[in-house]
Amino acid sequence: MASKADELRALSETIAGCTLCRLSEKRNNSVFGEGSAEAKVMFIGEGPGADEDRTGRPFVGRAGQLLTKMIAAMHFTREDVYIANIIKCRPPGNRNPEDEEAIACLPYLKRQIELIQPKCIVLLGGVALQHLLGIKGIMANRGKWQTYMDIPTLATYHPSFLLRSPNRKKEAWQDLQDVMRKLGKEPGKAK
Ligand code: URA
Repeated sequence: MASKADELRALSETIAGCTLCRLSEKRNNSVFGEGSAEAKVMFIGEGPGADEDRTGRPFVGRAGQLLTKMIAAMHFTREDVYIANIIKCRPPGNRNPEDEEAIACLPYLKRQIELIQPKCIVLLGGVALQHLLGIKGIMANRGKWQTYMDIPTLATYHPSFLLRSPNRKKEAWQDLQDVMRKLGKEPGKAK
């Protein structure tokens, strides 16, 4: 029987050749996601930007550096968790994904979640919240527990938003502490 890691690898190869939507036409690389196949927590962002399209890895630009710090504040490393996106290919000019692009891509993310079976999902920003849970409005809905595929799921601010609005970091940290509590981890002090 194929291991989870083998199945994830096979899925990433399928995605590298995916032509289900027009985003495949302009991509340099698809961005599958990365981290531990045994991750207890999965972070889901919006979609690749220029740095991610160039490298084929999620959250490696400025927003990614902040996400790495957020993960470290939770006493995890990037290797402990799993990081993915709603869509696997970069939309031109970093626009938001269109509904049909997100709908075409969603089965891939669902399969990743099914294989990894995290204890918690953290949605990064309003686009992830809208396309995964059908809920609009990150400001009104961050920090509220929802359920996705029977997994406790919480949305917080996207790191790109936090770079533009650092005064919102406190709320994001409260959300991440809540996630730590859900995972049975001692939140400790804010960083
Ligand atoms: N923003 C995202 O939502 N995802 C990435 O992978 C990078 C930036």
